[in-house]
Order: sequence, then structure tokens, then C-alpha cells
Amino acid sequence: MTQLIARSAAFAPGRASAPAPAPAPGPASATADVLGGPWPASARPGPGADLLVGGVGLAEAAERFGTPLYVLDEGEVRSRARAYRQALPHAEVLYAAKAFLCSAMADWVAEEGLGLDVCSSGELWLAVSAGFPAQRILLHGNAKSPAELRLARRLRVGRIVIDGPAEIARLAALVAADTPQKVLVRVVPGIAAGHHAAVRTGVGGQKFGFPIEGGDAADAIARVLDQPGLELAGLHCHLGSQITEVEPYLRALDALVRLLAQVRERHGVELPELDLGGGHGIKYLPSDAEFDLAEFAVRLTDRLAVRCAEAGLEVPHLIVEPGRAIAGPAGVAVYRVLSVKHGADGHCFAAVDGGMGDNPRPALYGSQYSVRLVGRRSDADAMRADVVGRHCEAGDVLVRDAALPADLRPGDLLAVPAAGAYQLSMASGYNLVGRPAVAAVRDGRARLLIRRETVEDFRLREVGR
Ligand code: LLP
Repeated sequence: MTQLIARSAAFAPGRASAPAPAPAPGPASATADVLGGPWPASARPGPGADLLVGGVGLAEAAERFGTPLYVLDEGEVRSRARAYRQALPHAEVLYAAKAFLCSAMADWVAEEGLGLDVCSSGELWLAVSAGFPAQRILLHGNAKSPAELRLARRLRVGRIVIDGPAEIARLAALVAADTPQKVLVRVVPGIAAGHHAAVRTGVGGQKFGFPIEGGDAADAIARVLDQPGLELAGLHCHLGSQITEVEPYLRALDALVRLLAQVRERHGVELPELDLGGGHGIKYLPSDAEFDLAEFAVRLTDRLAVRCAEAGLEVPHLIVEPGRAIAGPAGVAVYRVLSVKHGADGHCFAAVDGGMGDNPRPALYGSQYSVRLVGRRSDADAMRADVVGRHCEAGDVLVRDAALPADLRPGDLLAVPAAGAYQLSMASGYNLVGRPAVAAVRDGRARLLIRRETVEDFRLREVGR
């Protein structure tokens, strides 16, 4: 219960706008910044300078499962899922599987009443194999193969998002008119939002969706309405990722309601669904702003009611697709320090046993992270160090200019919070290092969800020489 209260506070308006203070000089293992910031709500100091997450010591988990280790706080995932349902009781909340998916994760979000947004037959198959109800799954993607569409139909997914012209005929050909497929048309409202150009999909000049400006969206809608096997349920858009403001969503909503009104004018139909995608930002650093779910829920619902009243439309059923905001804060990556190098210029490199192989985000987007020593008390002053990975590239830096104890040494454990989204799901096999193990923690118990990838796994895929 205490956890629930603490977690819902994380979504309260105001908290996001009160950045935690920058790390103070002094012993770098002080726990003042542990609660709150980018850490799971359950994080608290444990015995022996360990840091407890979900009641389990990170150092203890590292001993048991080895490193690098990704620890997932099941309670954090569940409470974040629940917070969405509570904030938006009349909307449908689909967890965006691309942030991170495994069977346990599918169970947790299903049990919390969420649906699932998948973007490949891999995500779709894993979810359905785990028992996720296919009717609560939405499939999107800019290049769905015929095989993917066939699988989606065979499994009877609830909705498919049409993203390009070729898909309309391709999907229509698979569908018999007596068992129509519910579809949404993905439109581009012309709104730039998100932490990096690579993830801004709400504007023209990128590969997703049909631009509203210029009429592509209207044409696609007309073509879909012409297909008896396709039941056009509504419009979809996704602006970008790691968005911390509500404003871009309100502007997108305005554009989409205008389009709904045009559709009614031109075709005499009122589309009943509006999907605003995901993109809700989280804290990576204590000083980061985060998306304010409560503000989003209130302002979006109000605005939708106002705009629909102005246009004389029924208020459509709202859908949102958060990924990062559910999985990100629930994950902590735990690494072991393998080497500490103090350069003549005073620069320090602390090299750990993971890196860009398990977290490509710093190298791809310049993403910043916090990091702290766990499992050993240190009274040493703080020093500045780059936490670097073990891969063969100078750009393999996980945390630049981190504050760590000056007596940091090989064998120490470092924990990186906000590691639950777009790290494991984007992990690679670079240098044949193998992807890390994943453990779930809850109520003081840890269990392995995904075992570490070994070189044997790589060798097993080889079928010739
Ligand atoms: N819906 C659609 C259609 C999406 O394309 C995405 C993310 C989401 C929902 C979920 O967005 P979220 O709530 O997680 O921001 N690898 C990048 C992020 C790419 C996001 C891709 N699409 C990163 O690590 O920042």
C-alpha cells in the first residue's frame, strides 16, 4: 500500500516540475537522491550499502545472477500501468511492447487491464504465445510484410494500423468481407516532438504514416472506406518519444479532430476511435522533467470534449500507447567494474562488463544516465569519471562525467536506473558479448526471467562454414 501511494505521487502534477537538486559534493554513496528521481519508487538503502529494489538488494541479485544484470521491478511496472488506467478510466491504454517485451511483462500488463501495441510478428507471436488476448493487441509498423499481416489475421488481432498505400490492398486481399478487420489509419499531423530527430515521427520528411497536409491522409481514408473487408475504426498518430510536454498532444488532437470532421463531411461517417500513440517522457537524471500524466489526462479529455462539441462530433474513444513510461523506470542495469583508468590529464575511465551492446542509447542519441555505486560503502570524495563499456569502440560510453567515489575500483558494482525501456529491446550481439540476464524483483524475492546469452547461443545459429 505504501508503495502504491508513493507511486501514484510520481504521477501527481507538480512533482515533475520540481527537479531534485544536483548531486552534492561529498561521499558519493550518500543515499539522499535514491528515493524519487529516476529510481523505482521501491528503491531504498539496504544492509551493507546495498540498494534494495522491490525489496531485493541489487548487489545480492548481482551475486546470484551475475552481471551485467537487468533488474525489473514488477511492482513498478504494475503501478505505472494502474496509474494510466486510473488517470484515463475511459480510454484504452496499450503498452508499447517495443520498449521491452517478455512473457512476464505481457502477463503483468494484461493483468493490469492494458492492451498491447506490437510492431512486428515477433512481438505479436511472443505476446500471443504468452497468452495475451489477441483482441487486445494492435499491430502497427511502416513495413509490415504479407506474412506479418497473415499472422495478424490468423491470430485475430484486434486492430491493425494502416501506415502506407500498399497495405490497403494487401490487407483487403487477406480479409473476407464477412469477417472484417478493424483498422486505424496512421496520419502525420505535422508536429515535431521528442528527444531526438531519430524518434520524431509527427512531422513530414520521415517514413511513417500519411501526412494530413497535402491530402494524403484524406485519400488513404477514402480508399480504406472503399474496402468492404476493412472496418475503419479511426485515426492513429504517434508524435515521437521522450516527450515531456502535454502541449504537442493537444495540438495533435486538434488536427485529428479537424480531420474527423472532414471525414464526416466527405463520407458521412463518424469514426469512433482516436489513437494518440505513446511518447511520454521519464526521468533519466534527477533534474530531468517528466511527463505529467495527471495533467495530460485532464487537459486532453477536456480539449477532446471541447473540440468535438465545436465540430458537432460524438467524443471518440481515446487510445494511448505508452511504452517507456511503463517499463523505463522499472528497470535498473547492474554492471561490475572491470578497470579504472586514471589518465595523466586527470580524466578517469571506469570500464564495466556491459556497454553499447546492452544499451546503445548513449551512442545513438547522446542519452544521459545517472549511475551509483552499490554494495560497498565509500566515504571517499566524489570524482568525475566516464563509465565506459567493454566494446571495441571509443564511443562506447554509458555515462559521461558521472559523480562516483574517488576510490572506485575493479570489482565494484554500478547501478544505472531508468534502464527498463529501449535497452534490452535494442541490445545487440556486438563483439559476441551476449545479451544480459533479466531478473524480476517483487516483495523481497528475485526470479530470473531471461538467462544470459552465451557464445553457444551464437554458435548454435551457425549452420554452415
Ligand atoms: N506507439 C508507436 C506507434 C510508437 O512508434 C512508439 C515508439 C510508441 C507507441 C511508444 O513510445 P514511448 O511511449 O515508449 O515513447 N529507441 C528510442 C525510442 C523509439 C520509440 C519508437 N516508437 C529511444 O530509445 O529513445
